[in-house]
Amino acid sequence: MTGTDWKDQICGPALVSPSILSADFAYLADSCRAVLDGGADMLHIDVMDGQFVPNISIGVPVVRCLRRAFADVFFDVHLMVVTPLDYVEAFARAGASLISFHAEAFSPIGKTIDAIHQAGCQAGLVIKPGTPPEALFPYLDQLELVLVMSVEPGFGGQAFQPGALEKLRILRAEARRRGLCDLLIEVDGGISAANSREVIEAGANVLVAGSAVFGAADPAAAVRAVGCR
Ligand code: DX5
Ligand code: ZN
Repeated sequence: MTGTDWKDQICGPALVSPSILSADFAYLADSCRAVLDGGADMLHIDVMDGQFVPNISIGVPVVRCLRRAFADVFFDVHLMVVTPLDYVEAFARAGASLISFHAEAFSPIGKTIDAIHQAGCQAGLVIKPGTPPEALFPYLDQLELVLVMSVEPGFGGQAFQPGALEKLRILRAEARRRGLCDLLIEVDGGISAANSREVIEAGANVLVAGSAVFGAADPAAAVRAVGCR
């Protein structure tokens, strides 16, 4: 890849992964359809167990039902649970496309990545704001995605923490150094049209946005604005 290609990749439009945590669950399928029709590239599904984070959200049955409703959509499932390895198979069977889990959780990381791949899904590894990006380095070659949290996980609607920018730069530089051109670098928390250009320039190419998309009067326009399209 040439230098120019690389610049195009990191500064071009990013993929947008709307977090359904901020959707109106009474109209979940309609809300998902609206953002997908508006150009969303996938759906971000936040799974919280009330222990790894102080909130409980979506579980396996919701993923299964969404998969029935959206056969061909990429499901980006973000596990915020204490023991992700225990749930890989269930979420894979329910229809996850990619399963990401936290480096701070209590499952062996390498074994969990292997289990995700064996279950037929892509694998992502996530770090909270207090965890350095170097914690991801030993696993970069095995992963399809890394996810930098720009808020403490647990709730939508929080303010973006700018400390994520330097982590994105470090991860993008390391991916480049290793020639991992296909590695997806995702950022999650407080992303909106006001800061999406900045995170893309720092190296993110998948942007999670919950309240900025589902809280907008025109979710389709919000998807385009967040993705810098
Ligand atoms: C937080 C979740 C996020 C959240 C993002 O724990 O992982 O995906 O829903 O919501 P916003 O975009 O509103 O910060
Ligand atoms: Zn998330």
